[in-house]
Amino acid sequence: MNTLKSGKIDLSGQVAIVTGASRGIGKAVAISLAREGAEVIASDILPVDDTIESIRTLGSKAIGVTCDITNQEEVDNMVGLAEKEFGKIDILVTCAGLCERTSSDDISHMEWDKVMDVNLKGTFLCCQAVYPKMKANNYGKIVTIGSIAGKVGGVISGPHYVASKGGVHAMVKWFAKDGATHNVFVNSVAPGPVYTDMTSGFPYSDSMAPLQRLGEPEDIAEAVLFLSSQASNWITGITLDVNGGMLMS
Ligand SMILES: NC(=O)c1ccc[n+]([C@@H]2O[C@H](COP(=O)([O-])OP(=O)(O)OC[C@H]3O[C@@H](n4cnc5c(N)ncnc54)[C@H](O)[C@@H]3O)[C@@H](O)[C@H]2O)c1
Repeated sequence: MNTLKSGKIDLSGQVAIVTGASRGIGKAVAISLAREGAEVIASDILPVDDTIESIRTLGSKAIGVTCDITNQEEVDNMVGLAEKEFGKIDILVTCAGLCERTSSDDISHMEWDKVMDVNLKGTFLCCQAVYPKMKANNYGKIVTIGSIAGKVGGVISGPHYVASKGGVHAMVKWFAKDGATHNVFVNSVAPGPVYTDMTSGFPYSDSMAPLQRLGEPEDIAEAVLFLSSQASNWITGITLDVNGGMLMS
């Protein structure tokens, strides 16, 4: 039986792994979790020095780790390092991802595999690595980053991106069902268009959203924070839409 009641957001004493934490949404997530007291393992294939510095400025502990989420050995190393440094893992947020806009006619098998490998398989490998540890600890919060594209068939992204993100939304339900009696909560956030390096050069305009602005990484980070915290202890298996009103479901 799940006995945890919902409470206020306070991540003091909690340990969080954030992938894709070098920049954009992942960086904002890492900083938000740290602001609320979490100790953070910030990982990426790119340097995470700026993220670590911002977290330490807030007075929280953080370590950086280079990790390609498509490489199981590197994922296991990231999780092992988190346990060695902090003794446990309470929160995993999977922000690492890539977006391709190629349309069906032009997608090579190699490009298809790359997008699926990072967005879906890589997200799975991270969940797979932390999940048994959370179960054994009888507590955990996993938040994956999906996309509005995985729900509406793409804003301007290609079918491989759409499929990978739809897969992420579906996969959290498996972990959520399995983890429910172990206090392991598993949810996804589906951002609408957010201004980051990923979307630089995309033909976006603020008027696309009913709220008349597209997203900033912090808009997504605060939703992730909610799902990572005790404030959401009666929520599992959902995909939370955060999109300025572009999808009202
Ligand atoms: N920006 C948007 O409009 C938007 C909308 C919906 C969903 N998303 C999703 O949000 C997440 C973050 O996107 P963002 O906009 O901040 O993009 P971004 O490109 O700014 O950040 C993505 C990060 O993931 C890292 N990364 C890529 N491949 C990796 C790998 N194999 N292993 C480890 N790290 C890897 C990159 O180095 C980068 O730091 C992605 O999953 C993306 O699909 C973004």
